Amino acid sequence: MKKIIITGGAGFIGSHVVRRFVTRYPDVHVYNLDALTYAGNLENLKDIDHLPNYTFLKENITDVSRMQVLISEIQPDGLIHLAAESHVDRSIADPMAFVKTNVIGTVNLLNACRDAWKDRYHETLFYHISTDEVYGTLGDTGLFTETTPYDPNSPYSASKAASDHFVRAYGETYGLRYIVTNCSNNYGPFQFPEKLIPLFINNIIHKKPLPVYGDGLYTRDWLYVIDHAIAIDLVYHHGKNHETYNIGGFNEWKNIDLVRLLCKLMDKKLGRPEGTSENLITFVKDRPGHDRRYAIDASKIKRELGWEPSVTFEQGLSETIDWYLNNTEWLQNVTSGTYQRYYEDMYKNR
Ligand code: NAD
Ligand code: TYD
Repeated sequence: MKKIIITGGAGFIGSHVVRRFVTRYPDVHVYNLDALTYAGNLENLKDIDHLPNYTFLKENITDVSRMQVLISEIQPDGLIHLAAESHVDRSIADPMAFVKTNVIGTVNLLNACRDAWKDRYHETLFYHISTDEVYGTLGDTGLFTETTPYDPNSPYSASKAASDHFVRAYGETYGLRYIVTNCSNNYGPFQFPEKLIPLFINNIIHKKPLPVYGDGLYTRDWLYVIDHAIAIDLVYHHGKNHETYNIGGFNEWKNIDLVRLLCKLMDKKLGRPEGTSENLITFVKDRPGHDRRYAIDASKIKRELGWEPSVTFEQGLSETIDWYLNNTEWLQNVTSGTYQRYYEDMYKNR
């Protein structure tokens, strides 16, 4: 039986990737390796966790000896690496946590894979999941391509850039087979309500202010998380060794326009008079080092692997809102306790 380790599989994107691999490939054993930080939640996988080709491992990627032992014992055929600290605002508050997990944790995994796979590099793959934020910021025009120079501006993107460099260096230096993909902003079910869309959905439900940073004219390229999981599946099975693929939604939105659309859709779904939620919009102090615009040129993955987004933004956003409205218990569980303190700390000086 083939074996694959997916790190960060209890998080937002990771849980969609785990679900897809476990259900689509019953002859592959999927090991979900996750430390269950605030962002990891086994509830995200309760529909598939009984399946015989699934095993959860509560492990921290920064643990040197555990990674060495586990990876050499399991001898996976591939590893998809999603475990990371992933929120820009948290990286501004505590950069070292990002260095530890995103940089040291990744190098630790690379060492463990290099050592475990040394006699069979040719039949293994280290697939590293990264972000478009490593490219820095764009002006009003232009797109990030796979050859855009790295120019990260936040501690988060700097830590992801460093991890990307290490993955490529291990390919060149030790012959490790690897692929890197750099994806734009994801949205969809199971996203922790610290990122823009789920945070604002939660605040609209509770009629709390919607804190829009700066002038609200920052632009992001949004992709439905299931389309990202489909791309990851395709790249894992058909991507070329030592290649990079950019993944994006062909879907740019200025934050304020997106927030207005979200307000409109939610008023309708909640049966509130139009304009109710827009009144909650509050412009607050900007994020330091805030990247003005991200936009991905995803033509390489479209041309070479035939991937493109399968849902429109309006469909994806509508399904996402429905999911949060139908899963209020999930939302309540993740926003109790420490979340309240996080929210007060993060937004008190804005
Ligand atoms: P997330 O924060 O929702 O999940 C991260 C997961 O990693 C959690 O389950 C957490 O418990 C686990 N984790 C964190 N530190 C760990 C450690 N030291 N050891 C083991 N597990 C640990 O993140 P996400 O949004 O699902 O992002 C997943 C990956 O995709 C990240 O590498 C991120 O950089 C990348 N990415 C995210 C986006 C996005 O829009 N969310 C876009 C492009 C790329
Ligand atoms: P976010 O979801 O944190 O993703 P990223 O910073 O990785 O792109 O933020 C998306 C955009 O929304 C970004 O321009 C920052 C902005 N934003 C707000 O205006 N208010 C908020 O409360 C948050 C969390 C984000």
